[in-house]
Amino acid sequence: MSSPQAPGPAAPELRIRPVEAADLGQVIAIDAEVTGLEKTDYWYELFHRYGGGRSRQRLFLIAETGDDIQGFIIGEVRDWEFGSAPCGWVFGLNVRPSARLAGVGARMLEAVCDGFRHAGVTKVRTLLARDNSLVLSFFRSQGMMAAPFIPLEMDLD
Ligand SMILES: CC(C)(COP(=O)(O)OP(=O)(O)OC[C@H]1O[C@@H](n2cnc3c(N)ncnc32)[C@H](O)[C@@H]1OP(=O)(O)O)[C@@H](O)C(=O)NCCC(=O)NCCS
Repeated sequence: MSSPQAPGPAAPELRIRPVEAADLGQVIAIDAEVTGLEKTDYWYELFHRYGGGRSRQRLFLIAETGDDIQGFIIGEVRDWEFGSAPCGWVFGLNVRPSARLAGVGARMLEAVCDGFRHAGVTKVRTLLARDNSLVLSFFRSQGMMAAPFIPLEMDLD
C-alpha cells in the first residue's frame, strides 16, 4: 500500500489591500500587458488621488499573493453625479492574464463593494464597452444588471 504524499508548501494566500507607492511598478506592468500601453504618468496621478487607503470615498485596491500583484480595482463614491443618489462606481479593473479564472476579480469586486458599504452607499455601478463581452460576463456573473442610463457622446473637433 502506498503511503499518503506529504503536503507540499501551501500556496500563498490571496490578500486584498489598498495600493501603495511601491506597488505601482507591477500595476503599470499589468496594465501595459493588457492594454499594450505603458501609462506611467497616468498611474502616478491616479495613485495620488486614490491610493494609500486614506479616503473612504476613493478606493484603489490590489490583490496579491506573496510579493506578486495579481490585479487591481479602482472605484469611488460619487455624490449626485448624473442626477443619481450617491453610489459607488467601479471604473478600473484588471487581473493579470496568468491569474485569471481563479476568483481574483470576484474577490476584488467584493472588497471594493465592502468599501462602498462602509462609505454608506447601497448601490454600485460601472460602465463598459458594449462589445467587451469578457468584462460584461464578469460583472453579470457578480449580479450586476443593465442600469437605467444611456451613455451619450459627440466629436469635439
Ligand atoms: C474581467 C476580469 C477582471 C475577470 O477576472 P477573473 O479574476 O478572471 O474573474 P473571476 O475568476 O473572479 O471570475 C468570476 C466570474 O466571472 C465570469 N468570467 C470571468 N472570466 C470569464 C471569461 N473569460 N469568460 C466568461 N466568463 C468569465 C465567470 O462567470 C466567473 O465565474 P466562474 O469562474 O465561476 O465561471 C479579467 O478577465 C480582466 O482583467 N479582464 C480585462 C479587464 C479589462 O479589460 N480592463 C480594462 C477596462 S476597466
